[in-house]
Amino acid sequence: MSSLTAVYPGTFDPITNGHVDIIGRARRHFPHVVVALSQNPSKAPLFSKEERLAMAKEAVSGLPGVEVDAFEGLLVDYLARRGAAVLVKGLRAIGDFDYELQMAQMNHRMSGVETFFMVANPLYSFLSSSIVKEVARFGRDVEGLVPPEVARRLKERFRAE
Ligand code: PNS
Repeated sequence: MSSLTAVYPGTFDPITNGHVDIIGRARRHFPHVVVALSQNPSKAPLFSKEERLAMAKEAVSGLPGVEVDAFEGLLVDYLARRGAAVLVKGLRAIGDFDYELQMAQMNHRMSGVETFFMVANPLYSFLSSSIVKEVARFGRDVEGLVPPEVARRLKERFRAE
């Protein structure tokens, strides 16, 4: 098991600048960061797995040492397959804490994985993929909140509705 690889998991539907900020900052502390896209079908994402992967790859293309991958099933099993022992999660506000604590403790109980919490950049602490989608759905600009390619795809998706 390596602590050199940190896994940053999420649904990334779509990736936002808040996510990219955490990834860049995590990369300063871990030589290898894997952005691990969950395929959780119960979440019924707006974008397909392929679209979410493409947007995440584009968003981190300027960050050396950052890889984007997708996984199915339990996160701890994915970490074991990748030989990783560390998870990175972002915390925006107290509302995130209860569920994140529960998951961190369950993941630790299942396999000894450590979760490192990073506090959100205050520039993005109000931001979520859901709020971005809601605003974009009604035609408002999300520039500065998401990578340009994500803004483009959101426009395209909602224009078609
Ligand atoms: O971006 P999200 O939707 O907040 O990410 C949630 C995610 C993907 C990190 C979480 O749902 C997860 O870890 N899913 C994988 C399934 C799993 O391991 N569940 C048990 C968690 S204790």
